[in-house]
Amino acid sequence: MRNLIDIMDLSEAELQSLIEMAEDIIQNPTRYAQACHGKKLATLFFEPSTRTRLSFEAAMLELGGSVIGFSDAANSSSSKGESVADTARVVGCYADIIAMRHPKEGAPLVAARTAGVPVINAGDGGHSHPTQTLADLLTIWREKGGFENLTIGFCGDLKFGRTVHSLTAAMSRYAGVHFVFISPEELCIPEYVKSETLDPRGIPYEEVRDLERAIAGLDILYMTRVQKERFFNEADYIRLKDTYILTPEKLKSARADLCVMHPLPRVNEISVEVDDDPRACYFKQVMNGKYMRMALILKLLEVAV
Ligand code: NCD
Repeated sequence: MRNLIDIMDLSEAELQSLIEMAEDIIQNPTRYAQACHGKKLATLFFEPSTRTRLSFEAAMLELGGSVIGFSDAANSSSSKGESVADTARVVGCYADIIAMRHPKEGAPLVAARTAGVPVINAGDGGHSHPTQTLADLLTIWREKGGFENLTIGFCGDLKFGRTVHSLTAAMSRYAGVHFVFISPEELCIPEYVKSETLDPRGIPYEEVRDLERAIAGLDILYMTRVQKERFFNEADYIRLKDTYILTPEKLKSARADLCVMHPLPRVNEISVEVDDDPRACYFKQVMNGKYMRMALILKLLEVAV
């Protein structure tokens, strides 16, 4: 039985086959409409979410399956003191597959040990978010036609932004990829990402402060929200939250084929005027996320279509 706890749980070949399946779902949705008939997905969301939870639910419904779950920890027995391991073991008696979001790093891994059904990490604290990476990879694939020889800039909260950590790991496997990490000093990319992922493979990266100077050299600009909920101190959040705001003015020096991505929700870091720019890809990412989650559910449930 397979889980998806970390994006590196999937090989490059498996990622490629998920992308191909998602493309096939986009082309032939009716072929998949009953693929998960009789199967149940449980969404256990101990942290707020709009896209991730609803796209998992939409994905399962579009596969003909059904959905149970909760979207607020206060409504679950964790508020009575139940452990993640026990909750997962119980839900595994009701559902065929579980998607879990939790504020504690490692909680989905703990759940996977007792659930008895596949567990998908839908975001664990400031650590990782592998299914957002699936959405991001399909977007890069569709916009750029492949993953090699790309310069990808991550901008904003690279310390707590779990989507950044997972996409960095995924992209580090492709030849010729170069990373530019654009952040204030306090929100820079964690040491472990450099020492465990980038340095051992000799992957080139830069850490810079200035978005305006970096933007011209990028194929992909991945903007992120400053992760308010991970700060200990509100004054620090207020000081840092508007460090980077992408505007049409700043995009003037960018390449014509730049792909601007953002996992959403957006707060202030991309001005709404950028939405009409053909380089804005963040709403395409949302749609791609649903198709990749459909492909992932089929893979983990071992449903042949
Ligand atoms: C991201 C997350 O939850 O980490 N959102 C999402 O799932 N698309 C990004 C964020 O909350 O900033």
